[in-house]
Amino acid sequence: MKEWSREERYRILKSKEEIVDVHKRNAASVYRQSYHIQPVSGLSSDPNGFIYHKGIWHLFYQWTPWGAVHGLKYWYHVTSTDLVHWKNEGIGLAPDCDYDNKGCHSGSGFAYGDDMYLFYTGNHRDENWVRTPYTCVAQYTPEGLKKMPSPLFGPRDDYAEHQRDPKVVYVKEKDMYFIFIGAMSEDKRGTTLIYKSSSLLEGWSFAGELKVPGYEYFGGMWECPCIANIDGKDVFVFSPQYTTLEGRGNSTNHNVYLVGKMDYDTLTFTPETDYRYLDYGFDFYAAQMAANVNDDKKAIMITWIGLPDNHYPTEEEDYEGSMTIARELRLKGNRIVQSPVKAIEQLREECDEEEGKLSKAMEMLVDFNEGDASLHLFTKENGEGGFTIDYNAKTKTITVDKSHMDKRFNEHVFETLDVPLDEDLKNMRIFIDSSSVEIFINDGLYTFTAHVYPTEKECGYTHSDNVSVSRYKLKASVKDDFVV
Ligand code: FRU
Repeated sequence: MKEWSREERYRILKSKEEIVDVHKRNAASVYRQSYHIQPVSGLSSDPNGFIYHKGIWHLFYQWTPWGAVHGLKYWYHVTSTDLVHWKNEGIGLAPDCDYDNKGCHSGSGFAYGDDMYLFYTGNHRDENWVRTPYTCVAQYTPEGLKKMPSPLFGPRDDYAEHQRDPKVVYVKEKDMYFIFIGAMSEDKRGTTLIYKSSSLLEGWSFAGELKVPGYEYFGGMWECPCIANIDGKDVFVFSPQYTTLEGRGNSTNHNVYLVGKMDYDTLTFTPETDYRYLDYGFDFYAAQMAANVNDDKKAIMITWIGLPDNHYPTEEEDYEGSMTIARELRLKGNRIVQSPVKAIEQLREECDEEEGKLSKAMEMLVDFNEGDASLHLFTKENGEGGFTIDYNAKTKTITVDKSHMDKRFNEHVFETLDVPLDEDLKNMRIFIDSSSVEIFINDGLYTFTAHVYPTEKECGYTHSDNVSVSRYKLKASVKDDFVV
């Protein structure tokens, strides 16, 4: 693995010519995705500023241009009219001010009248590398993003330096704006800080810490908090760190949700049930629900396929990271149900591969009849190996094991995970791209997302007799063009 010095990781990009070779190398990889957003070069991580505005979906991602390393972060901008075909637009936010001198970190988008604003964390570090996170805002204009001359507010000194990832909401009943900030307390509890203002671009003051009964001690930092109202209920999504959680191996980075009621007077989120994993897979983090979705029955979500601290085989080719496909979230009681956006069906083409063979980009519709069952993806010619999915009908548990793949990675975190179901396994809808798998289980009540890097020989699939599979090939919908 390449060792990066701080200077290399935090180098400022002066011209696109400096990364043209990295881009070319990345784009030539056999693991380059065809219908998933991926970094134009180097590393992509959290989705940022996801918003629908004037007929266009805008998404940004955390981006280090130089290679597969977390360093000086930019916001890279992509747009779409249907959430499936995405266009590279170039840099959205660049770390070019004193208050964001070491990175434009994560944040959210907000539509205000005819205008669109991006709220982000200015990651400032001084000469002793001491960090001060600022909550900043930039206005989107057709000429690009115009940063406001100064931040909205700085960090509180009665919390740790980890205070970032603003999510902005407007609460109609109070005619008031609120910002949720992911934070860590001085005694290292994960939490969320809330600020309020009657005006979007000024007058912000600290309102207090978000209270979530039962979650006073839950992880050490809550990254990327996000809240949306779906069908009359509040859904709070966040990424707690520095703790292991049941059924998640040795991972200390998670993405969970709570369904309940947010009270903006008492700053209390009262969950109706225990937390649930937003996804049960190996690589899923920092989910963001889009702002301005014009339908109060659903939210639209995109997530980073990856985990902080993890490493991926494409690091050898100087890039890593990818976004999930856009998913619709609806509620069933107090459970989230996820489905790929309908428009993805436009990508379907007849699958002409022989039975038992995978295409590089495909969708599989899988039905399970009663009893134990197996579906092994990316098997070798003799049917062995692969990314194995096995179902135990007695315990109603799906076990996914990637340890039989030729390319193994993050073995110390986990290679096998269970998905415990509340009901029998009925179906799966599986989206395969060159280096990822997204599985929607039982009509989206559970999902499982992972990176996978099959070698040329790992292109088969097998299944037990009580499983039936139909397949589509999927057309490409994300261009790998060099726009910076
Ligand atoms: C989550 C995160 C955020 C931060 C960003 C920096 O992955 O650590 O909390 O804003 O990434 O890239």
